[in-house]
Amino acid sequence: MICSRFAAKGGHIVKQMHITETVLRDAQQSLIATRMPFEDFEAALDEMDKAGYHSIECWGGATFDSCLRYLNEDPWERLRKIKSHMKHTKLQMLLRGQNLLGYHHYSDDTVRRFVRKSVENGMDIIRIFDALNDLRNIEVAVDECMKAGGHAQGCICYTLSPIHNLEMFVSLGKQIEQMGCNSLCIKDMAGIMSPQECYDLVTALCEHIALPVYVHTHATTGLGYMTYLKAAEAGAAGIDCATSCFSGGTSQPATESLVYALTQMGYDCGVDTRTLSRVNDSFLPIKDKFAENGTFDPYVLSTKTDALLYQIPGGMLSNLVAQLKAQNAINRLDEVLAETPRVRADLGYPPLVTPLSQMVGVQATVNVLLGERYKNIGKEIKSYIRGEYGKAPGKIDPALAEKVLGGEAPMTGRFADTLAPEFDQAKAHLGSLARSEEDVLSYIAFPQQAEAYFQRRKETFTANYTFKEVG
Ligand code: CO
Repeated sequence: MICSRFAAKGGHIVKQMHITETVLRDAQQSLIATRMPFEDFEAALDEMDKAGYHSIECWGGATFDSCLRYLNEDPWERLRKIKSHMKHTKLQMLLRGQNLLGYHHYSDDTVRRFVRKSVENGMDIIRIFDALNDLRNIEVAVDECMKAGGHAQGCICYTLSPIHNLEMFVSLGKQIEQMGCNSLCIKDMAGIMSPQECYDLVTALCEHIALPVYVHTHATTGLGYMTYLKAAEAGAAGIDCATSCFSGGTSQPATESLVYALTQMGYDCGVDTRTLSRVNDSFLPIKDKFAENGTFDPYVLSTKTDALLYQIPGGMLSNLVAQLKAQNAINRLDEVLAETPRVRADLGYPPLVTPLSQMVGVQATVNVLLGERYKNIGKEIKSYIRGEYGKAPGKIDPALAEKVLGGEAPMTGRFADTLAPEFDQAKAHLGSLARSEEDVLSYIAFPQQAEAYFQRRKETFTANYTFKEVG
């Protein structure tokens, strides 16, 4: 077994297990729609740095958008502030390859600038995935991450379908290794990977590739804890967990519980359990606040075995609930949950991860609420069918393809190759509103939210800034 981590300690062989703490990104994204402001968790950062985590996932995913849209925060400044507290612990982020943190593809120039700036502002490990496992869409980000001195972690999005199997996943793993990635992550965004499937997959990957294998799952279906134990047995290098008060349900399994169990099984997780407890104490009042103001809905904490059938990821389920509540149609949830896998099959079984999870969820909702399937087809779904997101894993339903393409052939090349650099135009548009290259990148990623934020910032602060491009 190549990728299992063993180290000699006091004459004994100790198995090591890396722990990544997700409370600042995936856990809060899954439980409270990424609404945790920096000021809430700032006081916890020094303690977190002492805990001994392999890494803290704190950026990327929905955090960037949420900072600009809801929290009136500059996401880059948040990253720098978090970094300033981290003397010992690596920071980690999630990046959607050519989509960066948004919902469409960007030019290679933008992807390179964004990745380079992420590393320059303090990011250590960039976990990079493509929603369709079309690895052409992570190559540029991986390449730039390594050039900038970051650790590039290539992802396999785990999903079940008639076309996804062990051979396909091992083949993806080999491509990730050939690309030069520093490590590999099996990303089970829906919490549907069973303990045995995980054991088989980690074992197969360890047999065929030399990269350390990290496992990411959610507690949604109740399998997560068991899946992590089997990941450990199979030789995984690390797992993603959330401090206990932000764990469970659509979030990750609890850090403290996994560390307790794994330690008894002979693994050295490298963490200090008393510090873990103090970290959790710091997050308890934050969780209570979000429970009181209604942002935290206890519904997301219950175990949902339906997800094993419907494959609804953590974030997607809470989005669907919020969407239907807003339209006074929460009573249609069961129908939407049944329609979701049908839409997915029509689209050639894309894994349900952002942005595909949102696209499929919205299309399923529209299909149900309008009472007719594909009466309205979302703009993004049309782009997907045209091949603009990459290659669909399986075959797209011919009738649906015909309806969108009208007989034209879908794109076979990389969509990013058709895109011109966005930077200069964005910079010119923003003028004095932009104070840095980072600002321009925020604008390219989320134009309306970023510009609104820059306007508010301009009104709030009077200091005079000039544009400064850094390295
Ligand atoms: Co996740």
